Amino acid sequence: MIEPVCEMLIDNTLLVGYILILILVCVILFSISAIWPSVIGAPWVPVSKSTARKMLELAQVTHEDTLLDMGSGDGRIIIMAAKEFGATALGIEADPLRVLWSRSVIRLRRLKDNVSVIWGNFFAQTLPDVTVVTVYQGQAINKRLKKKLSSDLKRGTRVVSYSFPFDGWTPVETQKNPHLYLYII
Ligand SMILES: C[S@@+](CC[C@H](N)C(=O)[O-])C[C@H]1O[C@@H](n2cnc3c(N)ncnc32)[C@H](O)[C@@H]1O
Repeated sequence: MIEPVCEMLIDNTLLVGYILILILVCVILFSISAIWPSVIGAPWVPVSKSTARKMLELAQVTHEDTLLDMGSGDGRIIIMAAKEFGATALGIEADPLRVLWSRSVIRLRRLKDNVSVIWGNFFAQTLPDVTVVTVYQGQAINKRLKKKLSSDLKRGTRVVSYSFPFDGWTPVETQKNPHLYLYII
C-alpha cells in the first residue's frame, strides 16, 4: 500500500516539475520576444500586405531573385516574395516567437524549398549572397545597417527601405504613400 502511494507522489512531483520548466521556458521566450528586438533594432510592427507588395514591385522582384528581409517578423514579406513573385526568400529575425510562427506558416504553405528564416541578430551575421534586400527598421538602425549592407552586399543589389531612408545614399527611386526608398548598391 505504501509503495503505490510513494510512486504516485513521485509521479506528481515530476509532473509539477515538468509544468514549472514549461512555464519558465515560456516566460523566457516571451521576455526575449518582448525586449530583445527593441534593444538591437526595431520592435515588431508589421508592414501591411499592400505595402509589402509595393516594396516587392518597386524592387521588380522576379523568380530570378533571392531576397533577404532584415528582421522578417511574421514572414509576410518573404512569403509574399515566394508566393506572388516566385523568388527565393530568406529572413533574419531576432524574435524567437516570430521565428517559430513564420517557420510554421512556411511549412503549412509548403514553401520550405523556397523560403527560410534564420534566428539571429543581423548585425552579427555575414549576410548571404542575395539580389534584393527589404528593410523596415528605424532611422538610427538604418545608420548602422548602411555600413553592414555596404560591406556585405555585392554591387548591384537592390535595397528597398520602408518609411526610413538611408542618410547619405541617393535613392534611384522614391515613392510617397507608402514612403519607399529604392537603392542600388
Ligand atoms: C518593424 S518590424 C518589420 C517586420 C517585417 N520586416 C515586416 O515588414 O512586416 C522589425 C523586425 O525586425 C526585427 N529585428 C529588429 N532588430 C533586429 C536584429 N538586429 N536582427 C534581427 N531581427 C531584428 C524585430 O524583431 C521585428 O520583427
